Amino acid sequence: MKVFSVLASSVSLASAMCHYGTNLMPRDVGLERRADGDFGYDELHSALEWHSMSPNNTICAMGKNQSPVNIKTGKYDVADGASYKFDIVNYPHGAEFLNTGHNVQVFANGSAEFDGTKYSLAQYHFHTPSEHRIGDEYYPSEVHFVFQNGSTRPCCYWFMIEIAGSGDHINQPISKSLAKVLQIPSVGDKVTTAALNFGALEQHIRKSDVYHYSGSLTTPPCDEGVKFNVVANPVYIDVKTFRNTKKVVKFNSRYTQNAPGEVNLLDYARIVLDKS
Ligand SMILES: *[C@@H]1O[C@H](CO)[C@@H](O)[C@H](O)[C@H]1NC(C)=O
Ligand SMILES: *[C@@H]1O[C@H](CO)[C@@H](O)[C@H](O)[C@H]1NC(C)=O
Ligand SMILES: *[C@@H]1O[C@H](CO)[C@@H](O)[C@H](O)[C@H]1NC(C)=O
Ligand SMILES: [Zn+2]
Repeated sequence: MKVFSVLASSVSLASAMCHYGTNLMPRDVGLERRADGDFGYDELHSALEWHSMSPNNTICAMGKNQSPVNIKTGKYDVADGASYKFDIVNYPHGAEFLNTGHNVQVFANGSAEFDGTKYSLAQYHFHTPSEHRIGDEYYPSEVHFVFQNGSTRPCCYWFMIEIAGSGDHINQPISKSLAKVLQIPSVGDKVTTAALNFGALEQHIRKSDVYHYSGSLTTPPCDEGVKFNVVANPVYIDVKTFRNTKKVVKFNSRYTQNAPGEVNLLDYARIVLDKS
């Protein structure tokens, strides 16, 4: 149920990490220097190679509770969203919206409660396409709300983002968060968002089922023990907002990992290749 993202640019390559702005990677460190390698989403920087970039990333290739996953309905714990406490502060004058590299992120405050612990929002950020799948299906985008409480593992809320057709209700807080995305095309660019009121998102959770499982950061170092809450019903944005988001974020989605508790797919590939 939690995650984050961020990025940094060294010389030429920018990457996105899900935990920028949290206690795992305080602000203003990541954009200058990445401790865990110049990870990205292509070629030898891709998710198949993250473990080779730093000894800190070993779990990316060995961990058995990695994210994202394909949430097979019926096989994951599911709860009624009405039981969730999820409150984001409203920003009538907008909030800071930053391009962290391959990821765009809003800094807002808020709180959530899970398993008796209260967490504070660090940031939320966007992926295109979605990292998680629900019942095999992927979505055009996914937004990760990353909460933390001191040094405990983050608790994350994930929403799938779908493109609205006629009759679908645009989710205003998500749509308005992205409205100025074309103004932050490059790493380090920032702008103040349009006014944000999160009422419609809080109501959205209350009316949806929420899947939960224990997973990992979807970016290096892939630390496990992250509590995921994946909201079953998608939120809608319009076509133009989606296209603009894709133009800036481009591609920042880790491949689907094995089911929680099962062998890491990379470790398995190694075992099979060693036998051949
Ligand atoms: C591994 O993580 C530690 C603690 O965050 C950091 O100080 C160190 O630089 C990292 N090592 C590498 C090789 O990235
Ligand atoms: C979040 O709350 C902290 C503590 O009250 C405050 O210092 C910070 O400016 C707030 N950040 C945002 C984005 O509202
Ligand atoms: C951390 O959790 C404890 C126990 O639930 C709570 O009392 C405290 O307010 C939380 N801190 C934050 C920053 O949410
Ligand atoms: Zn993320």
